[in-house]
Amino acid sequence: MMSKSDKRVSEEQVLNALRKVIDPDLHRDVVSLGMIKDLKIENDTVSFTFELTTPACPLKDQLTKAVHDAASSVPGVKKVNVKQTAKVKKDTRIELKLNAPIRNVIAVSSGKGGVGKSTVAVNLALALNKWGAKVGIMDADVYGPNVNIMLGVNGTPRVENKKIVPMHTYGIQIMSLGFLVPPGEAILWRGPMLHNAVKQFLEDVRWEEMDYLVVDLPPGTGDAHMSLAQLIPISGGVVVTTPQTVALADSTRAVTAFKKLKVPVLGIIENMSGNVFGEGGGELASQELGVPFLGRIGLNPKIRVGGDTGRPIVFSDPESEAAKTFLDLAAKVASELSRLNAERPEPSAEEKLASMKLNVGPGAG
Ligand SMILES: Nc1ncnc2c1ncn2[C@@H]1O[C@H](COP(=O)(O)OP(=O)(O)O)[C@@H](O)[C@H]1O
Ligand SMILES: [Mg+2]
Repeated sequence: MMSKSDKRVSEEQVLNALRKVIDPDLHRDVVSLGMIKDLKIENDTVSFTFELTTPACPLKDQLTKAVHDAASSVPGVKKVNVKQTAKVKKDTRIELKLNAPIRNVIAVSSGKGGVGKSTVAVNLALALNKWGAKVGIMDADVYGPNVNIMLGVNGTPRVENKKIVPMHTYGIQIMSLGFLVPPGEAILWRGPMLHNAVKQFLEDVRWEEMDYLVVDLPPGTGDAHMSLAQLIPISGGVVVTTPQTVALADSTRAVTAFKKLKVPVLGIIENMSGNVFGEGGGELASQELGVPFLGRIGLNPKIRVGGDTGRPIVFSDPESEAAKTFLDLAAKVASELSRLNAERPEPSAEEKLASMKLNVGPGAG
C-alpha cells in the first residue's frame, strides 16, 4: 500500500532545489559548478558530498547549510546528510609549462625592496595552509633570499634519485635560493645561472602535491624580474606596497609588469601602514589601477621580530589583527583563483603547441 510518506523523491527534484544555491564568488549555481557529488536517495534520506573549490572559503559553513536546507525543502525528504570537502581547481596552463603537481602559482611582487614582500609571501602561504590547503613556498628573490630565515629553516635540502627534496616547516614545503647562498653573502647571479636555478626549483624538486605555490619574486620590474616571471607559470599576482603616495609609482610599475605578462593581478596589499608612513596609499593605488585592494597590515614590531626569529605572525600571534588580515587576504586570493579557473577555457591547440616548443631546449629566456 502506498501512503503519502512513501512518495518517491527523485534525483531531479533534489538537483532542481540545489540549483537555487548560488556560489557567491563564482556567481553560478552549485549544481552546474559540479560541487554536488555522490548524490544518493534512500527512501526519505538524501546524502551527497558538497565539494568546495577551495578550503579557504570563509562562507563554507553557511554554504553547506544552504545546500542542506535546499535539499531538505524537497517534499518527502526527511533527512539530509551533507559531507563537506574541498578540491582546489587547477590552473590548466601550469601543466603546459611545468611538470610538477602544482595546481596554482601565486607570485608576490613589489616595485622595490624593503616593503615587506617576503613577509607577506610567508604569511600568505601559512594562512592558506591554516585554511586547510596544501601549500608550498618558493623564494626566487635573487637580491636577498630570506624566506628560509623567516620560516626558521636551516641547512641544505637533500638530493634523492637526482631530485631535490624540499624542506618542510609549519606544514608547508619550502625551497629558497637562500639554501644555496651562505647567509649574509651576496652572490651575483648571472642570467643563465639564475634561469637554471629557478628552473631546477620548479622541475627538479620532488614537490608533493600542492594547491598553491607562493613565489617570492625579486623586487622591481627589471630584466631579472621579467625573465623569471616568464619562466614561472603564474596563475595570479599580488603586489605589496607601502602607504606613502610616492609608493604609487612603484606599485604601478609592478602591476603593469604583471599585466604585460598577461598575469591576472589578484590585488594590492598595503603593508607598514601607521603613523610613520601614513595610510591609504595602497587603496588609492588599487583604485587608480583598477585592481582589487586586498587589505592593510599595520606597522607592528611583532611582525619584524617574527620574521627575524623564524616565527611568522600568523603562527606566533594568531589572534592579532595582522594574522586575521593575512587569513582574510588568503581567502580573497583563493576565491579569485577559483573564479579564474572556473572561467578559463581549456588551453587552445595553439597554446599546447607553444608549450611543446617551450619544453624543448632552453628557449629564448
Ligand atoms: N608590517 C610590518 N611591521 C613591522 N615590520 C615589518 C612589517 N612588514 C615587514 N616588516 C619588516 O621589514 C623588513 C623588510 O621586510 P621584508 O619582508 O624582508 O621586505 P622585502 O621582502 O620587501 O624586502 C623585515 O625586517 C620585516 O620583518
Ligand atoms: Mg624579501
